[in-house]
Amino acid sequence: MEIKLLSGALGAEIEGINLKEVNLGNFKTVNDLLLEHKVIFFRNQDITPEEQIELAKLFGPVEEHAYVKGLEGYPQITRLIKDADEKNQWGEGWHSDVSYNVTPTKAVILKSIKIPPVGGDTVFSNMELAWDTLDDEIKKIVINKKAEHYSLGAGFFIDNYKHFESNGNNSEEYSNSHPIVRTHPETGKKILFVNWTYTKNIVGLEKNESIEILNKIFEHQSRLDLTCRFSWTENAVAIWDNRSVIHYAIADFFPGRGLGHERVMDRIAVLGDQPF
Ligand SMILES: [Fe+2]
Repeated sequence: MEIKLLSGALGAEIEGINLKEVNLGNFKTVNDLLLEHKVIFFRNQDITPEEQIELAKLFGPVEEHAYVKGLEGYPQITRLIKDADEKNQWGEGWHSDVSYNVTPTKAVILKSIKIPPVGGDTVFSNMELAWDTLDDEIKKIVINKKAEHYSLGAGFFIDNYKHFESNGNNSEEYSNSHPIVRTHPETGKKILFVNWTYTKNIVGLEKNESIEILNKIFEHQSRLDLTCRFSWTENAVAIWDNRSVIHYAIADFFPGRGLGHERVMDRIAVLGDQPF
């Protein structure tokens, strides 16, 4: 096995592991890599939807998306299709997946099926480092506070991207509060758990102060030295620990440059536990 670090902050590309051969017996190796690097990448993995589901189940119960209908025959898989003429991309803007749920996603396994020749990288940021390096004054203010995460409603996911269909559930916006600093249930490390897309206010603070502090945190957690960037190829698999990273799908599909290509990915999410 060879481990190539993507940056000084997080992320590793793993060579020498065939994801078809990961099972209960050797799962610990993969999980340890995930806990250490927070996002791990595997290239040239020709796994089937069934194999992707089996891999996900090793991490825990598979979660269906709050709003978006799954793939025909595989309701656990959300197929993310960006048409050639579509400029938006699902996952633009910093976020952790479904942080608005009572039990936000634990991990995501994303497999690329069709990838443009250029554009559409994904960037990840390490929220354990973000907490460690956060300004002490802000730490003091937020350490025992919760923030409210809003689901934005089905329209956010369905209306902007023509390929997504509603699964008929929860079309209204809802919210849940989580500790701003959560504890990783497996490593015990402290993690900054807010994100620009879904976190709208700090519980117990006056509105202006809440916005001011959140904006400072959002700026901090997107610092480039906390990030790594992955350039996709077809049949690549990313597994990220959705508890300890935020991510950003770059939509650099500009006319005359990357625009005009289809991009297809299969996403499976693993159910997490309630942040504490
Ligand atoms: Fe995402």
